[in-house]
Amino acid sequence: MSVLSGKHILLGVTGSIAAYKAADLASKLAQAGAKVDVLLTGAGENFITPLTFQSVTGRRAYTDADLWGNEAHILHVSFGKTADLLVIAPCTADTMAKLAHGIADNLLTVTALAATCPILIAPAMDGGMFDHPATQENLNTLQSRGVLVAGPGSGHLASGLSGKGRMIEPMEVLGHIRMALGKHGKLAGKKVIVTAGGTQEAIDPVRVITNHSSGKQGYALAQAALDEGAKVTLVTAPTALTPPVGTNVINVKSVQEMLDALLNESADALIMAAAAADFRPKQAAKEKMKKRDGIPQIELEAAPDVLRTVSGVLGEKKRFNVAVGFAAESQSLLENAEEKLISKGLDFIAANDISAKDAGFGVETNRLTLLFANGTREILPLMSKTEAAEKIIEHVARLLE
Ligand code: CTP
Repeated sequence: MSVLSGKHILLGVTGSIAAYKAADLASKLAQAGAKVDVLLTGAGENFITPLTFQSVTGRRAYTDADLWGNEAHILHVSFGKTADLLVIAPCTADTMAKLAHGIADNLLTVTALAATCPILIAPAMDGGMFDHPATQENLNTLQSRGVLVAGPGSGHLASGLSGKGRMIEPMEVLGHIRMALGKHGKLAGKKVIVTAGGTQEAIDPVRVITNHSSGKQGYALAQAALDEGAKVTLVTAPTALTPPVGTNVINVKSVQEMLDALLNESADALIMAAAAADFRPKQAAKEKMKKRDGIPQIELEAAPDVLRTVSGVLGEKKRFNVAVGFAAESQSLLENAEEKLISKGLDFIAANDISAKDAGFGVETNRLTLLFANGTREILPLMSKTEAAEKIIEHVARLLE
């Protein structure tokens, strides 16, 4: 998670039962390499202790007692100036009101008023309080001043009622934090489309032909592009994964649907990480095939080659300034990848040796060689799919410069 590593995050925790989720968020941030300084309000301390946060961040957590302590005169000013981001999660209706009106009566709100870094809030309150015109007005005021708002979500509320007001889950807040930190990255202002997952080609209403693709490399690419500030559309075949926060998701099943989705789009870059089918049943049966009818003979036909169609090599309009493909090979890796690089009209291709146990389908790591249209090559050592994604995104950004 390079977008978080070494970043200084201030995490404000206010008086909501969702404060317990803040401990998980602080832990996730610290594990990703961020320096996390937690600022608890008095009400926040009623729900959770500074010790909880110190235990997960390895750093001192601050309370209102520090507002009047030895470092008081510099604390709030230095915090808000040195931090990369002030996150308030959970943020109560009361703290939102204070922020909207410039009230600075505790360490967190004083810090927020002095802060020059961006502010992100994750509201948490009962549905009625969130819907109240006062809260809505405060929310609008804060947004108009550039405060970023993550959530709230809908669902079970502490009052026993159900509605909008829940703090969103820590993983989602983390996604919003990444977006805020990546905003001015190398791909700021650029649009990137990533395809992911293994397509499904229908045999009948219940059966499909598919492959072992997990979608992990594609989803990691979408996240890496977001981390660099890109606007990301993820065209995804069915996977078990949750799309990164901030992606515009287009769900597809078949290679035809994937192609149709791309023909409706244009972008600065296309990264085709999906394992798209090469063959598909010529005709999907309308009704479920029955055993009693015997073993079916399924006639296959060639599926459209998505990359060749959208990269312009077949004479169609070129919709992407940079096009990147993957080559999944079990033999003659570089020769086959080179052929695909040219025949698919790509700027570069990531060759993937799927015969290795630690690379390719389903596993967390990849061992890629990047082959560029200008003839250069880069061998990437065994690395996580996240790291591989970051490398690929670096090259996409360089090519778009
Ligand atoms: N691809 C595509 N459309 C398809 C099949 C593949 O656009 N119908 C894309 C893949 O997403 C990948 C690249 O083409 O980026 C290479 O895919 P790969 O499966 O390695 O190669 P194929 O062209 O399918 O050739 P083969 O299966 O014969 O190796």
